[in-house]
Amino acid sequence: KKVKLKVPATVANLVCGFDILGMAIHEPYDEMEIKLLDIPEIIIKHVDSFGLPEEASKNVAGVVLQKIHEHLKLTTGFEVTIRKHIKPGSGLGSSAASAAGAAFGANVLLGNILSDDEMIHFAMFGEELASGVRHADNIAPCIYGGITLVKSTVPIDIIPLNTPDLFVAAVHPQVEVKTSDSRQILKKTIPMKSAVEQWGNIAGLIAGIEKNDFSLIGRSLNDVIVEPIRSILIPKFDEIKTKSLQIGALGGGISGSGPSIFMLAEKKETAEKIAHLMKSVYNQMEIESYTYVSKIN
Ligand code: HSE
Repeated sequence: KKVKLKVPATVANLVCGFDILGMAIHEPYDEMEIKLLDIPEIIIKHVDSFGLPEEASKNVAGVVLQKIHEHLKLTTGFEVTIRKHIKPGSGLGSSAASAAGAAFGANVLLGNILSDDEMIHFAMFGEELASGVRHADNIAPCIYGGITLVKSTVPIDIIPLNTPDLFVAAVHPQVEVKTSDSRQILKKTIPMKSAVEQWGNIAGLIAGIEKNDFSLIGRSLNDVIVEPIRSILIPKFDEIKTKSLQIGALGGGISGSGPSIFMLAEKKETAEKIAHLMKSVYNQMEIESYTYVSKIN
């Protein structure tokens, strides 16, 4: 028995929703094939060139399967072949794709015995291995699709939201930003004034998403807490954001913990123009970059 999956990239945080909001996008996506084995072993094969560890306990998909295996006391095993297209360290949910894909695929092979919340519970062990933190804001949209709100992780409480008909332009500049580092630099306390602004933005964003109110979405894509600190790690962040807004982006910001930047747009042509602009800004700096034009998935 085997299952073949296309596992989407995800944009976590959606600017103001640090650790609680995320959306799945069409491109890029990973390809995974998971086979059920008669022996209780977990075999991981990467058929890509990212040099990720294949030892199950050191592999994001591997640890997820180990936890499922342990929990269900399985006598069978899994062989996973991963062709990764979502670049590790891009901020586009590469580790979440491996983790969520493993949990989802194993569940299909086992006859859907896990609930969505259980899949998310197990997939979070993969995120913990990758970044040291059990966050679900990439995993939840990867499993549910579209946009999700992680109301809490303990207990797991995920709210799937409406999927507005919007395009996404994203750029991944080839600079290294580790999730663990970009979490460590954040302040541990928030002034009340900033908190009030931020929850206004989050509430506005969710209302905008639910009502398909694109102007409200645009006005709410502001982050007064995380972005001002993290954006320092991303070259040309302010220039890309300002120019994208000038050419018609609704809004956007850092994708996950960076270094990717994403922008939302109503029209495909606008998203393409933004992607072109993003690429040319990094070309001028001689920083290699990858761009994607996609839709919310
Ligand atoms: N919410 C997480 C963060 C996503 O911003 O650190 C990491 O991919």
